[in-house]
Amino acid sequence: MPEPTALQTRSEWLETTRAVFENQFGRPAEAAVAAPGRANLIGEHTDYNDGHVLPIAIDRFTVAAVGHRSDIRVRVYSKNLDESFECDLDAIPDDRPGWASYIVGVLAEMRAAGHRIGGADIAIFGNVPMGSGLSSSAALEISVATAVERLEGLHLADADMVAICRRADHHFVGIQSGPMDQFASRACRAGHAGLLDCRSLEMTHYPLPGHYLFLSVYSGIPRALAHSEYNERLQSCQKAVALLQRHDPDVRALRDASPELLKQVRGDMDERIYRRARHVITEQQRVFALIEAMQRDDAARIGDILKAGHDSLSRDYEVSLPILDEMIDWLYRQPAIIGARLTGAGFGGSLIAVAERDRIDAERLQQEFLATFDNRTPETPQLWPLTTVDGAKYA
Ligand code: GLA
Repeated sequence: MPEPTALQTRSEWLETTRAVFENQFGRPAEAAVAAPGRANLIGEHTDYNDGHVLPIAIDRFTVAAVGHRSDIRVRVYSKNLDESFECDLDAIPDDRPGWASYIVGVLAEMRAAGHRIGGADIAIFGNVPMGSGLSSSAALEISVATAVERLEGLHLADADMVAICRRADHHFVGIQSGPMDQFASRACRAGHAGLLDCRSLEMTHYPLPGHYLFLSVYSGIPRALAHSEYNERLQSCQKAVALLQRHDPDVRALRDASPELLKQVRGDMDERIYRRARHVITEQQRVFALIEAMQRDDAARIGDILKAGHDSLSRDYEVSLPILDEMIDWLYRQPAIIGARLTGAGFGGSLIAVAERDRIDAERLQQEFLATFDNRTPETPQLWPLTTVDGAKYA
């Protein structure tokens, strides 16, 4: 992971990446877009169940700098990896490197959606850490898609842009992800959390109380097995919906099921499917409970909701790990911390914590966190304060 101390501002990242483009391709870039990573406050694994999520866009960026070509070729250079890849857009090889799939996938799906996309040179650079659960892949997709949108003079609705990126995930990357990450990277606002209705794809922006500070806590465990485990959770939810529909045909997705209906159907369900469904159905309720608690500025209630959300992810959805649970318990013992939970898909990755801004000494907390958990995880764990930023389309 890049050191948090090595952070640049958004405009510095844009400038640096334009310079990388010029150095690589020998001409100035025609457009550049910085897309942020995200942390989700609550609403985990609800997005592919047509439910609600509450993400923030965070001050970690992936930048795509782009320029036209007169042919159909795409040439991409990743500064982080110091690797290049190129191919014709109408002949994308199966043996492409994994990181390139996101980029060519987005371009191919833009074309498949009927947009006139020609070839392009593309330089990528940024500091959304890969595999950390902060949506580096969505930031990569949205940076490329939004940069090409500007290059070609297109104006896509957020929902259409997100649908294109999801099709790239499904067809080129092999993960059946929901709409949250790309939507957050594209459309969240600084100082706000974005409540996304994942059925209507409408986002409502809620101002965040200024006296709370959000902390990103990287567990030191890169997400592993994420694709297969993730797709398995999705299938369990679909099985639960099929059973619930027998009792109530109006249930199109887990979002439509009440806790009471789930209880009625429990006898027909495999215990594991029941617990998966219980997580999603109760998590839906926690999204609105958290918004209300933040509006009432009820710190104790915020802490309780986040803890209940984490416990549900750990026990019912089984996407946490023992050491992540231990980190959560440790965070709750710190006087300045109001609450914390796993954020993103799980299986490693990151936690998000909420702290009282005027009580926290983030540097001291980071040292104590390291003293407790370093040497117990494959990578160095990290804890740092987040700033919320605007999504790619605003900057
Ligand atoms: C990943 C996916 C999202 C969402 C989260 C879990 O980040 O990309 O669509 O499902 O996991 O909430």
